[in-house]
Amino acid sequence: MKQHRTDLRKHLPTPTLSGLRVAVTGGTSGLGLALVRQLREGGAQVALVARTEEAVERVALETGALGLVGDVGRKEDIYPLALQLTGQLGGLDVLINNASSLGPTPLLPLADTDCEDLELALAVNLVGPFRLTKALFGALTASAREGRCAVVVNVSSDAAVNAYPHWGAYGASKAGLLHLTSVWNEEAKSLGVQFLSIDPGDMDTPLHAAAIPDADTSQLKRPEDAASEVLQAVLQALSPQEPEERFQSSLLGEPS
Ligand SMILES: NC(=O)c1ccc[n+]([C@@H]2O[C@H](COP(=O)([O-])OP(=O)(O)OC[C@H]3O[C@@H](n4cnc5c(N)ncnc54)[C@H](OP(=O)(O)O)[C@@H]3O)[C@@H](O)[C@H]2O)c1
Repeated sequence: MKQHRTDLRKHLPTPTLSGLRVAVTGGTSGLGLALVRQLREGGAQVALVARTEEAVERVALETGALGLVGDVGRKEDIYPLALQLTGQLGGLDVLINNASSLGPTPLLPLADTDCEDLELALAVNLVGPFRLTKALFGALTASAREGRCAVVVNVSSDAAVNAYPHWGAYGASKAGLLHLTSVWNEEAKSLGVQFLSIDPGDMDTPLHAAAIPDADTSQLKRPEDAASEVLQAVLQALSPQEPEERFQSSLLGEPS
């Protein structure tokens, strides 16, 4: 029976971005903005989320994506966001949990980190993606049932697995997200929803500049290159092959 299903999948067309219904959090800057632009260029239907209204409107106008103003760290924002984006896109195939908070900068050792700042990092980087994924899980499983496949990308960092001094609050939130991603993936694969954890590497973005202001930006990755890699991983996950062959995660580079 399993073999029969695999043979059928091998005859499915190679997936493309065209027509995919995708939500990107943090879609107005850095990696998220590059993702929104490339998805739209590839013909995907895209909803982006960020807190700053003016930036959301600007990117929506530039790209033709649906722009939603919201804070993924605020419980009250999650269901309105989920309802608006599934209503406007007519469902959802791919969720990219990309928005992230560093907390206050300069980054501090844990002994000097306020409890509230740890709570903020956890709220935006861990609990927010969890809430949004839960709110959209029905739409994602419906997409999988319709044979469109469904993928959730949780954007990680090598700070999730390395004990970099001063990166404790952010690193703990990303470590939690990495673990949740693995468990979600185990639990949801029988429903046809795949979860990927992707570390984009050190990129030349406002987040990196806030964390490491004196970094040599010529050594940093362009967010556009990281976005292409993320979208390649999504397409690979959607392609008709055995689950074991699929891209799972890449954890490379310096802390960020
Ligand atoms: N840059 C790096 O070197 C690096 C390395 C490894 C991993 N990462 C990860 O890559 C992802 C993207 O980072 P980036 O460097 O591209 O960041 P960025 O340029 O600072 O952009 C962050 C985006 O997230 C939005 N955002 C922030 N807090 C939000 C919230 N609470 N709710 C909704 N939207 C929010 C921002 O808009 P508003 O402020 O208007 O909300 C903006 O659109 C993050 O998950 C980060 O942890 C980055």
